[in-house]
Amino acid sequence: MASLGQIIFYTMIILIVIFAAFIILILALAFSGAGSRVQSTNTSPIGNLSDDVLLSCYLNTNNHQAVNDISVTWKKANLAGLVYKYQNGAPDLTDQNSQFKGRTLPFLDKLMTGNASLLLKGVRNSDRGEYTCSISYSEGTGEVNIYLRTAAFSAPTFTLLQGILATHASWWFPKPNVTWSDYDGKVLLGNNILTESSTGIFSVVSTLQPVNNSGTYTCSIENNLLISISQATITGSNVSWSTYFTYSTASSLLASTYLITTTSILCIYYLI
Ligand SMILES: *[C@@H]1O[C@H](CO)[C@@H](O)[C@H](O)[C@H]1NC(C)=O
Ligand SMILES: *[C@@H]1O[C@H](CO)[C@@H](O)[C@H](O)[C@H]1NC(C)=O
Ligand SMILES: *[C@@H]1O[C@H](CO)[C@@H](O)[C@H](O)[C@H]1NC(C)=O
Ligand SMILES: *[C@@H]1O[C@H](CO)[C@@H](O)[C@H](O)[C@H]1NC(C)=O
Ligand SMILES: *[C@@H]1O[C@H](CO)[C@@H](O)[C@H](O)[C@H]1NC(C)=O
Repeated sequence: MASLGQIIFYTMIILIVIFAAFIILILALAFSGAGSRVQSTNTSPIGNLSDDVLLSCYLNTNNHQAVNDISVTWKKANLAGLVYKYQNGAPDLTDQNSQFKGRTLPFLDKLMTGNASLLLKGVRNSDRGEYTCSISYSEGTGEVNIYLRTAAFSAPTFTLLQGILATHASWWFPKPNVTWSDYDGKVLLGNNILTESSTGIFSVVSTLQPVNNSGTYTCSIENNLLISISQATITGSNVSWSTYFTYSTASSLLASTYLITTTSILCIYYLI
């Protein structure tokens, strides 16, 4: 039979274990709470080659108060050094990889309110990949991953000459296809000419004939990353148009990578 002393001893041990588990749980919740507060309005942006792209990352605070002691680190997977770093109230570019020299523009006036977004200038093919934005501040730390894809895309222009409707878009990559349709959505056969430049960018010219002297035609330029849809309206000898772009969401491969990452993080939590 166990003595009173032994019972007290084992009860204490059990209480300590329960208490420790409780503290670890609280810490885990606090940590994941801070993590989920670092967010991005777009975790799979498509950068237009040679144009600028916004890598969005911000701290989702309830109030718009200043965030104390904020420091921000932008890293790129499989790249030595950093993309960008802000610490102790100033940029710190000592470890910046040369690929990003002079190409990263933070919004310094907005950093104090937790907006750590970065404008990446002159997008190149080599910029493609996964970026991690980490924010640390007086109340915690957190990070968000952003997968940047690159493409070339430009809105087409339209001309009407002797009953031929022509469109021209000079900046496309990967190689797109062009489709025309009439107002009712019936597909029309156009004549497409794609020219590849020495840098691998495609210039698109497509002509459609005959066209009515009053009518609306839709022209789509599409590759696996995005589609541009233009409505061209013919009035007599004039043509006017409007264009919008729709971007494909992240690939299923990427989605599964995220799933695996999330699952392993959950497993690690349970192991603790
Ligand atoms: C952060 O700042 C950039 C640049 O001004 C802006 O485009 C973006 O909308 C801001 N993000 C948030 C969440 O306020
Ligand atoms: C993409 O960049 C090219 C080259 O700078 C530019 O001509 C084109 O207008 C840009 N596309 C869009 C949709 O802004
Ligand atoms: C062009 O005119 C023909 C005959 O009038 C009509 O059937 C067709 O729908 C018109 N197409 C467009 C795009 O307006
Ligand atoms: C055009 O390209 C897209 C993406 O590569 C593809 O899904 C689509 O089927 C193509 N359309 C035609 C008409 O070839
Ligand atoms: C075409 O545009 C010209 C110049 O903008 C204008 O003078 C003319 O009236 C237009 N024609 C039609 C049919 O809208």
